[in-house]
Amino acid sequence: MTKIAIIVGSIRKDSSNLKLAKALEKLGGGRFSAVHVRIDDLPLFNQDLEGNVPAAVTRLKNEIEGADGVLFVTPEYNRSIPGVLKNAIDWASRPYGKNSFAGKPGAICGTSPGAIGTAVAQAHLRSVTAGFLDMAMMAQPELYLTFKDGLIDSDGNVSSPDTAKFLTGFVDRFLNHVGGAAKAKAA
Ligand code: FNR
Repeated sequence: MTKIAIIVGSIRKDSSNLKLAKALEKLGGGRFSAVHVRIDDLPLFNQDLEGNVPAAVTRLKNEIEGADGVLFVTPEYNRSIPGVLKNAIDWASRPYGKNSFAGKPGAICGTSPGAIGTAVAQAHLRSVTAGFLDMAMMAQPELYLTFKDGLIDSDGNVSSPDTAKFLTGFVDRFLNHVGGAAKAKAA
C-alpha cells in the first residue's frame, strides 16, 4: 500500500493542523498508510552533531526515505513556516549529498484562523521543497483552510460536508500525484 509520511508543523496537543492531518488520513479511506513523523524530540540543528547524529534524526530520515510521498500540514508563524518544521527539514536534508527528501513527491497544505489560511507559509515551504530539496511538489489543488471552532475534531471528523468534499478531492489528487511519480520512476 502507498505509504505517506505526514509532517505536521505544529507540535502542540490541540493543533488544528494535526486535526487537518487526521481528517485527510480519514478521508483517504484506507487508500494509503500514514506514518506520522515525529519532530518534537529533535535537537536544534547543529552541524557539530552531524558526525554522530542523534537517534531521533536517524528515525526521521528513515521514515521519510521509506515513504512513497510526503505530506506537509503546517501552520503559518509570522508569515512563514514554524521553526520546529524548518529544524526537521534541515536535519532530514543532511548530511550533504544524503538529502532524504530528494526525488520524493510531496504536497503542502495547512490551516490557521486567518483569512488566507497559511498561504504565505506554504509559498515559503514550496520554495524550500521544490526549489531546493529536489522534491516533486503537487501544484494543484491548493489547500488553504481557515480554521473555525468545531470544523474538525481531534479524531479527524469534519463537520462541514463541503469542506470534507474539498479535502477528499485534495487527497485524491495527491494520491494520483504520488502514483504518477512511482510509475515514472519504474519506467
Ligand atoms: C501565529 N499565528 C499566525 N496565523 C497566521 O495565519 N499567520 C501568521 O503569520 C501567524 N503567526 C503566528 C506566529 C506565532 C508565533 C504563533 C504562535 C501563531 C496563529 C496560528 O495560525 C494559530 O496559532 C494556529 O492555531 C497554529 O496552528 P496549530 O498549532 O493550531 O496547528
